Amino acid sequence: MSETDTQGHNPVIEKVADKPVESAVAVAGHPLHAMSVHFPIAFVIAALGCDVFYWWTADPFWLRAGIWAAGFAFAAGVAAGSIGTAELLMVPGIRARVASWTHAVAAMMLISVAGLNWGIRLADPNVVLPHGLMLSVLASIFTGLAGWHGGKLVFDHGIGLIISEKD
Ligand code: HEM
Repeated sequence: MSETDTQGHNPVIEKVADKPVESAVAVAGHPLHAMSVHFPIAFVIAALGCDVFYWWTADPFWLRAGIWAAGFAFAAGVAAGSIGTAELLMVPGIRARVASWTHAVAAMMLISVAGLNWGIRLADPNVVLPHGLMLSVLASIFTGLAGWHGGKLVFDHGIGLIISEKD
């Protein structure tokens, strides 16, 4: 059900519309979260690729590559997630929007699954078929969900933008 009335007003958004939404964690006007999220996304998909190639070729190279990809996916997820959490807690207009928390929950699920995916491989690299592959698929699904909702924050809500002064 849409929260927008027939005149296009959304009372939920109007209540939080005047709270600031500019990124609080940025270097020279460039938000760090936007810069860092590419790494967990790429490494999660890389881990899935390694598992599929291992399934296909049975070459143990892909087992080793998968451990590294899964480990970097987790580490990069924790790094990106820490910056995202700082934005969420520090910026009133981000904190007040339900959409921010939806994104945060999807992202925390992604980071948790990515951590498990790395941990089980450290304990026994041969768990890739089937459990590692299943976790890689699950992590990819949560990556899609988190990325989708993160994108909505930026493109629907205008969150995290720093608009330069025009002179
Ligand atoms: C607990 C963890 C996280 C929190 C609280 C969080 C919070 C946020 C917030 C507040 C934004 C709005 C833009 C900004 O303020 O920078 C955002 C954007 C975004 N997030 Fe996250 N985030 C988290 C983790 C992640 C992870 C792990 C990913 C990787 C899939 C991710 C992907 C994105 C994307 C793609 C955007 C839109 C791109 C952009 O900022 O330009 N986030 N996130």
